[in-house]
Amino acid sequence: MKYHIVTYGCQMNLHESEKIAGILREKGYTEETDIDDADIIVFNTCCIRENAENHAFGNIGALKRHKREKKDLIIAVGGCMAQEKGKAELIREKFPFVDILFGTHNLNELGELIDRKRAQKKRVFSLREEREETEDGITPVRTGYPGAWVNIMYGCNNFCSYCIVPYVRGRERSRSADDIVREVGELAREGYKEITLLGQNVNSYRGTDGTSFPALLDRCASVEGDFRLRFMTSHPKDFSAELVSVVKKHKKICNCIHLPVQSGSNRILSLMNRRYTREKYLEEIALLRREIPDCAVTTDIIVGFPTETEEEFQETLSLVREAGFSSAFMFIYSPRTGTKAAAMDGQIPEEIAKDRLSRLIEAVNEQTRSISAGYVGKACEILCEGYDEKKGLYLGRDEYGRMGYFESEENPIGAYVTLRIERANGISLYGTIA
Ligand code: SAH
Ligand code: SF4
Ligand code: F3S
Repeated sequence: MKYHIVTYGCQMNLHESEKIAGILREKGYTEETDIDDADIIVFNTCCIRENAENHAFGNIGALKRHKREKKDLIIAVGGCMAQEKGKAELIREKFPFVDILFGTHNLNELGELIDRKRAQKKRVFSLREEREETEDGITPVRTGYPGAWVNIMYGCNNFCSYCIVPYVRGRERSRSADDIVREVGELAREGYKEITLLGQNVNSYRGTDGTSFPALLDRCASVEGDFRLRFMTSHPKDFSAELVSVVKKHKKICNCIHLPVQSGSNRILSLMNRRYTREKYLEEIALLRREIPDCAVTTDIIVGFPTETEEEFQETLSLVREAGFSSAFMFIYSPRTGTKAAAMDGQIPEEIAKDRLSRLIEAVNEQTRSISAGYVGKACEILCEGYDEKKGLYLGRDEYGRMGYFESEENPIGAYVTLRIERANGISLYGTIA
């Protein structure tokens, strides 16, 4: 029996797909890379923006044929879209060939849902409103070697006005610090070289014994082993000097912080319910640069939020220049039913939003290119994480998140490699082993 998992969305979802794989493996399934040959197909969905949803719906729809050709095939849909209000009903009606639906709060029950489906032949749709436990007892099938993800918390309490995550992932729940530190220790002993702590807002982590995020990070970085430590995502409203000092203290913690700003306009930030100002954000960056001069900062930005004017968009552009981001994820605002922003007046026409996005991308790219150019002729240490079939080159990232490509006779995946950078193309660097 073979499984095939299709994953959409963020790193949280990628890690949850590793847990889904863990459950399926326990049930005796093995992985199948060709979807046509699988006995069970699981879609782990995302609903952060409309296009993520459309994508998933399109691909789920295409499975109708598979089901016709293979009667015993099981099709399961889980993840954030499955948990979204009204979507279970929609899937029930529009996609009669979907056998199992599970939400974000009952992923751990997938094994039982499969048993139920097999026993009764009827469709099994199972959703829960909340889940309080933070341990699921699942051994994930890790797919990111030399990288590994560790959940430190689930859910989100922030209710940024545009965002659906709090609705589909529930309230914040933090895992115990001891469990997290133990998992980091196991991964280090198993030879993982890059461990990323995951949460929607890691700064509001609060362990059952009161451990704060900086204290947790300090403990994780004190674990023995030759690994790098990353964390995401930080929320600017909870960013602290204490966090900066922990990052500064440990060589293991990468000098690279993902700090989503979303907008450079105070009026828009307030409408977004982000609870910080442009000034506070820039002060945080200044503090970071004072303490850790080489620290790279990456960000997320939304353009075309309801009522955003051209002048306000210009403030985002000027913030991009002032903050000196090394890269950014940039999005056109997408209204999500049930969120506060979706009901606001002044939705921005698509052409205007698209035009702002392309100007923003150009501004960010300009900086990305100039940072890349600074690498040329210099040495750079990367952790080799894979092989790019198309380019025929190995690739890896440096501490700051820059991707470097190179040739190698041996397979260096999982090793730290020093490259001499010869040329740069956009965000990518090309070099030879020094
Ligand atoms: N918890 C993280 C990331 C959440 S989702 C954080 O708070 O930073 C990742 C990014 O998707 C967000 O930072 C935001 O830039 C973007 N995003 C979220 N909802 C969106 C929406 N409705 N439309 C467009 N982009 C959105
Ligand atoms: Fe969404 Fe805001 Fe929570 Fe991030 S902090 S997941 S953007 S509500
Ligand atoms: Fe992640 Fe998408 Fe859910 S970004 S938290 S998978 S809505």
